[in-house]
Amino acid sequence: MLTRTTQREKTVLVAGGAGFVGSHLCEALLQAGRNVISVDNYLTGLQRNIADLRGFARFTSIAHDICDPLEIDGPIDAIYNLACAASPPAYQADPVHTMMTNVLGTKTLLDLAERHGATFVQASTSEVYGDPEQHPQREDYRGHVNCTGPRACYDEGKRAAEALCFDFLRAGRADARVARIFNTYGPRMRPDDGRIVSNLIVQALKSEPLTIYGSGQQTRSFCYVSDLVRGLMALMDASANPEMPINLGNPAEFTINELADKVVALVPTGSPRLYRPLPCDDPQRRRPDISRARKTLGWAPDVTLAEGLPRTIDWFASVISRPARPAGMARQSAR
Ligand SMILES: NC(=O)c1ccc[n+]([C@@H]2O[C@H](COP(=O)([O-])OP(=O)(O)OC[C@H]3O[C@@H](n4cnc5c(N)ncnc54)[C@H](O)[C@@H]3O)[C@@H](O)[C@H]2O)c1
Repeated sequence: MLTRTTQREKTVLVAGGAGFVGSHLCEALLQAGRNVISVDNYLTGLQRNIADLRGFARFTSIAHDICDPLEIDGPIDAIYNLACAASPPAYQADPVHTMMTNVLGTKTLLDLAERHGATFVQASTSEVYGDPEQHPQREDYRGHVNCTGPRACYDEGKRAAEALCFDFLRAGRADARVARIFNTYGPRMRPDDGRIVSNLIVQALKSEPLTIYGSGQQTRSFCYVSDLVRGLMALMDASANPEMPINLGNPAEFTINELADKVVALVPTGSPRLYRPLPCDDPQRRRPDISRARKTLGWAPDVTLAEGLPRTIDWFASVISRPARPAGMARQSAR
């Protein structure tokens, strides 16, 4: 006998579907033939991110805050929870709401997964490692987080959300899976969202001083958005629940000064670098150990920073209304 899900296309709910990563995920799911429901309160997400998706009859968007109860008519086979502001200025603007989004909102969606028998993927974060004492970070590292600082609404909120996922899993209430996402960049990041990649690109394009927090010697590892989306879908589609969190990120590590050098090589600007104090609890080093993702999901990133950065710059150039660089210039400069 055919099962319920082989008789029809699967329906996937993406919470945070109008955000940077969420909109790319919705697009990839539609391209894979899924019915997609985006649930978003547009706190940091934008209508324009999903404007092109409205052309698909299989796409629905619902304006809703996941802190409030949610019921959906009809079947749901899979739920991705990406709903949460990801940039520090955005999540610190209303820290109580950020914490509630992570705790109450994740509970809302886990309850929904339980009622529908849906597989659940939680977008957790490398921030659960805090300012790490282990390098690179493996999933068994329990982290070094300040639970009372200004980042705690996000870091501790995400840790609580992970705990909820594993509680639902152990209780047999939902097939919950957890991805720990490291810095991801690409088109559709908000120009004003305050993350390092968008900050440097936008400042270079506008010939403004490049703001660097701290000495610029702190490191990050940058994953291109299409690689992340592929990893999230691989985690959802894995036949067996890994029953452990999985790091998704690009292990190539760069200092912030190196990132600034790469941006300036692609967007020549005479702008000076403005060194500002490091924000409270800002991590010094960040690099994922992705052995578990390689082994469990057969996943590894494909897109290097030299490939992803020009694509991202071209996109920012188009949205901030400055003519894009001549075709091919980015790749030539990146060599
Ligand atoms: N992009 C990264 O580098 C990164 C790194 C680690 C983790 N993550 C996680 O991935 C997810 C997506 O990140 P992003 O970069 O796309 O961020 P984003 O801010 O662009 O997207 C978040 C989306 O969630 C929506 N949202 C926020 N609170 C909500 C609520 N209470 N109810 C409904 N919708 C809500 C926002 O409007 C937005 O559309 C987040 O959960 C984030 O924590 C991202």
